[in-house]
Amino acid sequence: MLRVEKITHSFKTGNEWTKVLHEISFAVKQGEMVALLGSSGSGKSTLLNLMAGLMKPTDGHIFIADHDIVLMGENKLAEFRRKNIGFIFQAYELITSLTVRENVELPLVFQSVSPSIRKQKALALLEQVGLPDKADLFPSQLSGGQQQRVSIARSLITEPSVIFADEPTGNLDSKTEEEIISILLKLNQTMKTTFIVVTHEQEVAEQMQRTFSLRDGYLINGQHTDVQPAPTEEESP
Ligand SMILES: Nc1ncnc2c1ncn2[C@@H]1O[C@H](COP(=O)(O)OP(=O)(O)OP(=O)(O)O)[C@@H](O)[C@H]1O
Ligand SMILES: [Mg+2]
Repeated sequence: MLRVEKITHSFKTGNEWTKVLHEISFAVKQGEMVALLGSSGSGKSTLLNLMAGLMKPTDGHIFIADHDIVLMGENKLAEFRRKNIGFIFQAYELITSLTVRENVELPLVFQSVSPSIRKQKALALLEQVGLPDKADLFPSQLSGGQQQRVSIARSLITEPSVIFADEPTGNLDSKTEEEIISILLKLNQTMKTTFIVVTHEQEVAEQMQRTFSLRDGYLINGQHTDVQPAPTEEESP
């Protein structure tokens, strides 16, 4: 369902280009939950942002449900992202002036879903992440772990086919981290959503079905045997 083909990415700083990702290729199946592991600066966030369509790679292709998001124009990509992709940030990124329920509903506001359906869906998801009684509070009235649960519920409300999470437990203590990871594992089981979870902790990665590791912008393991060669490419002699 997600296929990354020879992704290379460079950043320009001053007059110099620095290559931070080198021909990364792998594939993830529908419903899989995989960890993206690597030390600080190895390129995890860059790769995640590329896969989520938040920026374009220097080279290579990214297929989500057979659509090449690298080739998509801005408007089409924005629409595709709204419908198919969810994102969970390390720092939750909730809107402080909206209640918990309104934050969870927000992605549906842009899809002209009726207020009563929105509310119903948001409350059901808040129940799933263990916050049935917090719907009318504001984010500032919640703990960090609770705020992250709200952001998980928000990422799920559009029923995306894939959710990208960038160090979702990076700001949390180890007990809360375990709770959040077990919620993600449960949601992966019950909703069959595909999850790509960035972490630099081996213990977190071990709970996922598979781990891809980055080192200095190179994929060092987790190569998937099912990766198809690019259909348009011809073998050069
Ligand atoms: N916007 C940018 N401009 C220039 N260089 C960047 C930019 N973003 C990231 N980099 C560089 O790309 C490399 C990879 O960064 P990235 O944020 O992907 O690492 P990471 O694995 O997510 O690290 P961390 O665990 O600290 O979050 C780093 O060397 C970083 O300095
Ligand atoms: Mg990062």
